Amino acid sequence: MFYDYADSGSWTESTYRANSSDFQAIQLRQRIAVDMTDRSLASTMVGQPVSMPVALAPTGLTGMQHADGEILAARAAAKAGVPFTLSTLSICSIEHVAANTDRPFWFQVYVMRYRAFIDSLIDRAKHAGCSALVLTLDLQIMGQRHKDVINGLSTPPKTYPG
Ligand SMILES: Cc1cc2nc3c(=O)[nH]c(=O)nc-3n(C[C@H](O)[C@H](O)[C@H](O)COP(=O)(O)O)c2cc1C
Repeated sequence: MFYDYADSGSWTESTYRANSSDFQAIQLRQRIAVDMTDRSLASTMVGQPVSMPVALAPTGLTGMQHADGEILAARAAAKAGVPFTLSTLSICSIEHVAANTDRPFWFQVYVMRYRAFIDSLIDRAKHAGCSALVLTLDLQIMGQRHKDVINGLSTPPKTYPG
């Protein structure tokens, strides 16, 4: 169930496949006879110094892939010098991640109809020292993810045919 959740896409999975094929089409050009003494990918993202302009995108249910997954990912990101984004749909709580890491992380929000709940989530993220709020805007309705339906990945989990 959780393997399929990470390794699938919605509907015909065309975007999922394009995520691989589009990157394969990008070629890196080798630079030669240039001074490479001070080469660096270091940059800043929302005012924060980063070792390279890359961040860990929010990934729901990480704690179901591996115990304490969100904490481990946050620690790995800190070690690599890049930001970690905690998903609204995380297994480890905002406070649990904050208590077990020593770098501020970003918090992703799905804005739901129940605004009081969202306000309280944002307050909790502020109190936990989150350094940016990442708004996800593309989930007006849930995508049809066939493998998740067959696996019964829902809250609470269901057994097919559910
Ligand atoms: C398994 C999985 C879980 C995801 N969970 C979330 C989530 O909880 N919240 C969110 O905003 N985006 C979520 N995303 C979307 C990613 O954060 C990211 O925006 C998307 O995969 C596009 O980036 P990419 O092209 O680097 O994969 C998820 C993506 C995957 C593959």
